[in-house]
Amino acid sequence: MNERMIEQVRVPIVNELGIVTARQKGREISKKLLFNSVDQARITTAISELARNIYLYAGNGEILIEVIYSSGKTGLKITAADSGPGITDVRQAMQMGYTSSNGLGAGLPGVKRLMDEFSLETEPGKGTVITATKWIR
Ligand SMILES: Nc1ncnc2c1ncn2[C@@H]1O[C@H](COP(=O)(O)OP(=O)(O)OP(=O)(O)O)[C@@H](O)[C@H]1O
Ligand SMILES: [Mg+2]
Repeated sequence: MNERMIEQVRVPIVNELGIVTARQKGREISKKLLFNSVDQARITTAISELARNIYLYAGNGEILIEVIYSSGKTGLKITAADSGPGITDVRQAMQMGYTSSNGLGAGLPGVKRLMDEFSLETEPGKGTVITATKWIR
């Protein structure tokens, strides 16, 4: 797609502080973009879930938050990238209630539901890249 990137912030996720920082940056940028408060909460929740997964399952990685512009619309795009173990069964991982740890298994399906666009690319042994976008309406 013809997306133009206007602004970007990169937050390394190496410990719990990174999760908090990514969340704060998401809140800050979504507020600045004038997302309503419900959408701001959706965005910050999505960022927390993706950052938490990176920390938990890959050990480290990064969250990229971008302001993008495409066919007259402005949006906030989250990219969560890691070089961890990857996900062998994506269908299973996307299922509400599936967890390989002792979580609720609500993270990934939650992110998909909260955002307007969602994509997941992963390769076992190589890592995972998840993108999620919310458009301003
Ligand atoms: N970045 C990742 N790298 C490797 N595996 C992942 C990654 N993110 C998610 N997974 C796998 O997908 C499963 C589902 O993730 P999801 O976030 O939906 O649930 P959870 O983390 O187990 O629980 P919750 O997020 O509700 O606390 C995880 O249990 C894990 O096995
Ligand atoms: Mg999770």
